[in-house]
Amino acid sequence: MLNPLIANVANAPAIVLGVIATLTVVLVTSLKGTGWEPTTDISDEVLERRASAVPETDFPEPGNRAVGGGGGGGAIPAGGAEGEEGELEDGSAVSAGPADVEEVEYFDVEFVKQGKTVELSNDEPILEQGEDEGWDLPYACRQGQCVSCAGHITDGPSEDFVEHDNQQMLEEAELDDGYTLTCVAYPRDSFSIETGEAP
Ligand code: FES
Repeated sequence: MLNPLIANVANAPAIVLGVIATLTVVLVTSLKGTGWEPTTDISDEVLERRASAVPETDFPEPGNRAVGGGGGGGAIPAGGAEGEEGELEDGSAVSAGPADVEEVEYFDVEFVKQGKTVELSNDEPILEQGEDEGWDLPYACRQGQCVSCAGHITDGPSEDFVEHDNQQMLEEAELDDGYTLTCVAYPRDSFSIETGEAP
């Protein structure tokens, strides 16, 4: 019987040949590649097909959309930018408010209790401009629906000097006496005013 050690030595060339053959097959296979080809890019085709499936919209190009949805500011009437007259869906006209002036003008307004005369513009309410001066002026609703911000124009009927934006509290006689709601009153001339004065 052949010694096992001698038998292994006799098989060594066969083992080496087997390893070489295996490596050769692996090398040839990897050089040839797998034959897989990437498919053509179909993304454009898919996008076009999807676009054709979506109906056309009448939306205008986005140009004035608030980021984040909350949407600062009020609705702009259809067909009109701020400062222009627009039209509601039912066809009724939307008139511009007293803040929508063609040209910003300034008037000297004396705040009697504060002891100071300042220039007020015609496109902001008296209350806001007084606050800009750092004065703690009275107010509550800021919408012309209470009388917390009332003041008294000492020069005569208040509507000779200011234009109210939808004030709902003062009677004609009170306006004629010089009373005004400063939160919705826009200067139209120079005048003197006592703030914190209600009829
Ligand atoms: S704050 Fe209410 S009417 Fe001016």
